[in-house]
Amino acid sequence: MTEIRVAIVGGAGFMGFAHSLGWAVAPIAADPGATIRKVVLVEADEERAASAAKRLGWEEWSTDWRDVVARDDIDVIDIVTPPASHAEIAIAAIEAGKHVLVEKPISNDLAEAEAMAVAAAASAVVNQVSFNYRHAPAITFVKQMLADGTLGHPLQFRAHYTQDGGVLGRVISGWRAQKGAGGSGVTGDIGSHIIDMASYLVGDIKQVNAVLGAKNPAENSSWLSDNDRREGGHLDDAALWMVTFDNGAIGSFAATMYASGRKNRMFFELECTGGTVQFDWNRSDEVQLSLVNDPPEQQGFRTIIVNEHHQDVWWPIAGMGSGYIDDHALQLQKFVQAIVEGRPASPDFADATRTQRVITAVMQSADSHQWVTVDEVKA
Ligand SMILES: NC(=O)c1ccc[n+]([C@@H]2O[C@H](COP(=O)([O-])OP(=O)(O)OC[C@H]3O[C@@H](n4cnc5c(N)ncnc54)[C@H](O)[C@@H]3O)[C@@H](O)[C@H]2O)c1
Repeated sequence: MTEIRVAIVGGAGFMGFAHSLGWAVAPIAADPGATIRKVVLVEADEERAASAAKRLGWEEWSTDWRDVVARDDIDVIDIVTPPASHAEIAIAAIEAGKHVLVEKPISNDLAEAEAMAVAAAASAVVNQVSFNYRHAPAITFVKQMLADGTLGHPLQFRAHYTQDGGVLGRVISGWRAQKGAGGSGVTGDIGSHIIDMASYLVGDIKQVNAVLGAKNPAENSSWLSDNDRREGGHLDDAALWMVTFDNGAIGSFAATMYASGRKNRMFFELECTGGTVQFDWNRSDEVQLSLVNDPPEQQGFRTIIVNEHHQDVWWPIAGMGSGYIDDHALQLQKFVQAIVEGRPASPDFADATRTQRVITAVMQSADSHQWVTVDEVKA
């Protein structure tokens, strides 16, 4: 059996923890067609690298990703560093012939994302971006109902990604709070997940009209004025945007970490000609479904808990739950399967660059107060 030897860069952080669990679970939960070896964990600081490698189950540690990318005994570079460093590491890894997985967003910068997509397209390596939520079995079920016609044609997609870390003063620190390192702020950070979800389920976004809020640092105050936000170069802490899709559907999106009581709530409702589906990550193995052809006396939403009859569910009994680690393990499994079978993975760097183009369109629309056509966005 093929052996896939993995190195993780930035492995002592939050996503280092999630991916370390995911790499460990993936081959146990379902056979990806290869054995997986967690070989090297990379962190710039020696002590941090050594202790994280030991705790998270990596064979070795290193403080220099360049050394690791150059090694002949590594097949995959898994990049879980902050987004400002993704392009440099990913392009070097591609040039060294490694398969590459990169955490979302692909980059903070559209030009960098494009360079990554070009490098990936010119190579034979498998490349994937970690938009993990689309791999949840409940989402795979929604995708199937769109593909087999059960839901009909998409009409309207409404998505929220809300957390409460901002109001609690907890999450928006470190690189996330820094101009440059934090990219577009909340739109690129958690908003990118709902853009990816929309692209996956509904199709390409054509036009965007957006408004952004940047938190006024004065205590108990609202957002800065739009002028102050732009002129001060503040990152966005709240984003609302409307879209049209290439296929005629329309949509609206909201992302913020200033939503008291919301605990990582990634929610959407998708209305189609044949019915409506609703998904809430806080109930991650459920889909709410209403079908137009249901008998009139049964019209309304039913709750479907994904079970052994749905794709990618590991447990033989419904209701065992499917959560964040399952999601990461599933995306890693699919990535490894693509390597073994010599086919592209999804979403790849080109898909994620399209998402980055939508993020850039949100920024440009908020600044210009105009609709922005995604295909016309320049890096
Ligand atoms: N998919 C998700 O659900 C999800 C959730 C959170 C974060 N993310 C993404 O994951 C990435 C990392 O976010 P995080 O929250 O884990 O950040 P983090 O700050 O917790 O971890 C990043 C790690 O990278 C290390 N690092 C930075 N530069 C390095 C370098 N040159 N060499 C080696 N190590 C280096 C840091 O020391 C740190 O340990 C970001 O792209 C972020 O958007 C994704």
